[in-house]
Amino acid sequence: MVDSPPAKKCRQKPLMGTELNKNKSTVMKKLMVIGVALLIAGAVSVRAADAKENWEKNCTKCHGADGKGKTKMGEKAGVKDYTDAKVQAELKDDAMTKAIKEGVKDGDKTKMKGFGDALSDDEIKALVKYVRDFKK
Ligand code: HEC
Repeated sequence: MVDSPPAKKCRQKPLMGTELNKNKSTVMKKLMVIGVALLIAGAVSVRAADAKENWEKNCTKCHGADGKGKTKMGEKAGVKDYTDAKVQAELKDDAMTKAIKEGVKDGDKTKMKGFGDALSDDEIKALVKYVRDFKK
């Protein structure tokens, strides 16, 4: 009867071990799913904030925070109301990208300067989308 208690212990230990591991791996899986979800949510919100920030820093003085262009400089320069569906319909993504990159000219007069040096292609792409989102 000296042998049997240790034998029992030996049988129980690995059993408890595997159960513990099973629990651990389910917890890990759940944590990983949550982690990936947070990562995606984080990436999306960071991008949106960037476009908003860039818009507020570089564009609102003419186009207005709301995209309507009802600012002193905007009215003087003759910017369009980007919440107007008709205006939006006339815009082309390519032309918008080019305008933000290279600026808008009226003959020799620069109506809007280009932001190609200040902003990356991705930031410009995000701004095109940002302008599109003004559409009501
Ligand atoms: C100095 C004033 C001014 C600033 C600053 C300015 N814009 Fe403009 N923008 C204009 C004018 C003027 C036009 C031409 C009229 C129009 O389309 O509203 C224009 C046109 C545009 C267009 C339309 C181009 C097309 O396809 O017809 C887009 C898009 C645009 N701006 C985005 C931006 C973004 C993004 C910024 C900031 C990074 C910015 N603008 C900063 C004055 C400005």
